[in-house]
Amino acid sequence: MDGADKTNGKAKYTAEYKLPDLAYGVFVTSNIAKGTIKQLDISKALIAPGVLDVIYYANCPTVPGYNPNASERPKNVNEWRGHKVLYDNKVRFFGQPIALIVADSFENANAAIRLVKAEYIVEAHETNFELLRKDPSKLKPAVTYKRGQEKAFSTAAKFIEAEYTIPIEVHLPMEMHATIAYWEGEDKITVYDKTQGPKSTQSTIARTFGLPEKNVRVIAENVGGGFGSGLRSWSNVPAACIAAKKLNRPVKVVLTRPQMFNLAGYRPQSWQRVGIGADVTGKFIGITHEAISNTSKYEDFREGIVDVSKFLYSSENVDTKYSVLPLDLSTPIWMRGPGEATGCFALESAIDELSYQLNMDPIDLRIKNFTEINQENKMPFSAINLKDCYAYGREKIGWKNRPAKPGTLKENGMLIGYGMAVGVFGAGKGTASVRAILSKDGKLVLECAVSDMGPGTTTSMTKIAASAMQMPIDKIKFKLGDSDFPSGPSQGGSGTTSTVGSAVDLACKTLQQNLKELAIQHVPTFIGKVLSDVEVKNEQVLLIADNSINVSIINLLKMSNKENIDITITSNGNNPSQMKFTSNSFSAHFVKLGVDPKTGKVKLLKVVTTGDNGKVISPKTARSQMLGGVVGGIGMALTEQVQIDHTTGQIINASFGTYQVPLHSMIPPIDVWFVDKPDYNVNSIGAKGLGEIALIGFAAAVANAVYNATGKRLRDLPITPEKINLKKI
Ligand code: MOS
Repeated sequence: MDGADKTNGKAKYTAEYKLPDLAYGVFVTSNIAKGTIKQLDISKALIAPGVLDVIYYANCPTVPGYNPNASERPKNVNEWRGHKVLYDNKVRFFGQPIALIVADSFENANAAIRLVKAEYIVEAHETNFELLRKDPSKLKPAVTYKRGQEKAFSTAAKFIEAEYTIPIEVHLPMEMHATIAYWEGEDKITVYDKTQGPKSTQSTIARTFGLPEKNVRVIAENVGGGFGSGLRSWSNVPAACIAAKKLNRPVKVVLTRPQMFNLAGYRPQSWQRVGIGADVTGKFIGITHEAISNTSKYEDFREGIVDVSKFLYSSENVDTKYSVLPLDLSTPIWMRGPGEATGCFALESAIDELSYQLNMDPIDLRIKNFTEINQENKMPFSAINLKDCYAYGREKIGWKNRPAKPGTLKENGMLIGYGMAVGVFGAGKGTASVRAILSKDGKLVLECAVSDMGPGTTTSMTKIAASAMQMPIDKIKFKLGDSDFPSGPSQGGSGTTSTVGSAVDLACKTLQQNLKELAIQHVPTFIGKVLSDVEVKNEQVLLIADNSINVSIINLLKMSNKENIDITITSNGNNPSQMKFTSNSFSAHFVKLGVDPKTGKVKLLKVVTTGDNGKVISPKTARSQMLGGVVGGIGMALTEQVQIDHTTGQIINASFGTYQVPLHSMIPPIDVWFVDKPDYNVNSIGAKGLGEIALIGFAAAVANAVYNATGKRLRDLPITPEKINLKKI
């Protein structure tokens, strides 16, 4: 629906709004990782051309929600959560904003950065995850889980135990995080923001600035990618609001690309150890999964890294342990497939390793331990069709050509390997409200305060409405990205189609009821009929028994003397069947790749990716999401890593020149396939999410294929040629 506007440049993104009298804010950032600012000299910057103000801790107006004793994620407290920008003289990580220069142009603001001089009292910083994770005194208390025997895997006939590590990865959406704030009065503000949740940003601004929510309007009409970085508000949001108030004019703050590396979250660095054992038939005896991931010193960020090991495969004995390691870095955030993408790399690699111990096909090993019951809560999965995914992928990737003995297949001078792995993510349905306005011209407008970070939400929602209303797509408009619309969720956790789609479906069904009632009341040929005698389709209300008795929606509204039917409904998250089932989406990824024996360079030759996510609403955009997940997964597997110089605590590769994302030349033909069976246990539309499962597990499929090709097991991402280094084996 929005493809044309996005291609021809008509679609507007946050930083593109031109407000009258707009001023431009840029951050000055710290060049130490930890310490106190003794003195900040802004005098030269203040008199630089075009500079309107330099805001920092000493001259920043009081922010009501900046609680000096703020803890992380306080519950029901009116305060800002996270780093309090422009608030105090403490430096908590390298590259932390220490001042905001506001000027009449971006260029003038930017030019004044070097005129701000900071004097620090430097303190020793801790950024080295690999070193510090080995010191138990540095870790926050672990969360543990156990069923059956602890470490039972080591008693099994065959077992493996191995450690897996993943560096910091960054979302890096094309669109930089950006905010334009404009105060329309002392206590009323409008904000354009790059956010995955207009309502979430609205509530953040309201509690930070002590405003009623209704006085805060957040607009995010288009979002140029997010992958999770837009799931909370970062420093640019309060900074723009503070500056706009202080200067009494609209202010725009846009992060630079280097700032996107640590001012908008990232996937935390992680260490995992997985032990997994099976009897000689391959039946799992036990799984032990431990993990540590980093957080900041000023907030706890945790994710479900070890959770998949608890529930996906049949095993009587499972124990997990997860702790976080606070470092002098900024706080991480959910990144595509949060938790599971990390956990599945380890678990799905370990299962592959075990399959070689057992001399068993890794797909057969997974089928051997397949279960339709969630092993943690013992509730049946609402639907699980992973076996169909295995069958399709096995066939299409050419699994029969996979060498049982690694390093034995060559094509065109390359060592050839096949690998596969599974992804899984929760698939719940949350609460959302939708307004539906059916006008006398026969057009339907739907509104919800969700945003769209790129997966094609307007397309899928329009298709759901068209199907529920039985009317053509071009008569329907779905509007999103404005907190003034009825409340919707943040776009995240693969939940939008299920949650907002259910609300759209309910709104349309409610409209149909209203139309039927109107027809019975106002149309002579329908008088005396009851609701069950009547149906709505093809923009008409019709008698089921005799479709030749009908009235068009346009005529019906005219006969009823109505401008429109305007309803707002709320679809509740508590579906009764959600109490009986546990719901997930699943994926299985298959990879064929070649490794150059001389250089260790990996060349992906073919990918087959399969999704088990209920009904596919919009095949084109669903396929596109799976493609994006695969590309993200290729980056995770082969190229992406943030590098920190631990002597300074600085990220040293904060650019697209040095943080390598996948290139077009690295992307092989990708076959996308969906099981496409509706799962009505989750919601009325039968659809579950797929944004996360598109990526989860993919890195393991690559690692498993690299092992199959070379006999070299790589457990440290990314898998670079120097790590493969075949001369050493
Ligand atoms: Mo996704 S990490 O929930 O944007």
